[in-house]
Amino acid sequence: MRNNLGILEIKMRKIKDKNFEPYISETEILKRIEKLAKKINEDYAGQSPIFIVVLNGAFMFASDLLKEINLDARISFLKLASYQGTKSTGKIENLIGLNENLQNQEIIILEDIVDTGQTVSYLYDLILPHKPKSLKIASLLLKSEIYQNKYPIDYIGFDVPNLFFVGYGLDYDGFGRNLKSIYHLKK
Ligand code: IMP
Ligand code: MG
Repeated sequence: MRNNLGILEIKMRKIKDKNFEPYISETEILKRIEKLAKKINEDYAGQSPIFIVVLNGAFMFASDLLKEINLDARISFLKLASYQGTKSTGKIENLIGLNENLQNQEIIILEDIVDTGQTVSYLYDLILPHKPKSLKIASLLLKSEIYQNKYPIDYIGFDVPNLFFVGYGLDYDGFGRNLKSIYHLKK
């Protein structure tokens, strides 16, 4: 954003007790999502996948991505929680369950961010017993430096460093989800 002297201002955000700096702009996010959607439309042409949106964090990503999906898709929601403040508790809670029949269906999970991969393992363990035809994961962000998991992340928006992010669905203690762009915690 430019101030009235025409000088580029770096827009910091204070959320609760912490300062966050801009990291990925709204324009860049939407441009990348459009490309991901195009790839998914090509990969699933003629098919009818079920998208499973992992709440809360993935709601904005899912909303913008799904508007660009031109397949006969169904959309379902799953609510999980594992973070408290800026740290993972290491324990995942399933707060709203699945009620779709996933057997023999093409499943695409939509996640906001993949960090340690615990959530991804949890999702695989939850969904594979339903015997889907295929299971893929699309995540807006991936912390590839610390992701240690056998499961591939099939569609990745941005590979990001091991920082703490907020905005565009991601929260710090429940705040910051409504920001249009992505910010990182200032060190
Ligand atoms: P994982 O199970 O360690 O991969 O963590 C994944 C979940 O933790 C994500 O779906 C987010 O909800 C949350 N999370 C991980 N990193 C961040 C972050 O940088 N900001 C906000 N939430 C995060
Ligand atoms: Mg999440």
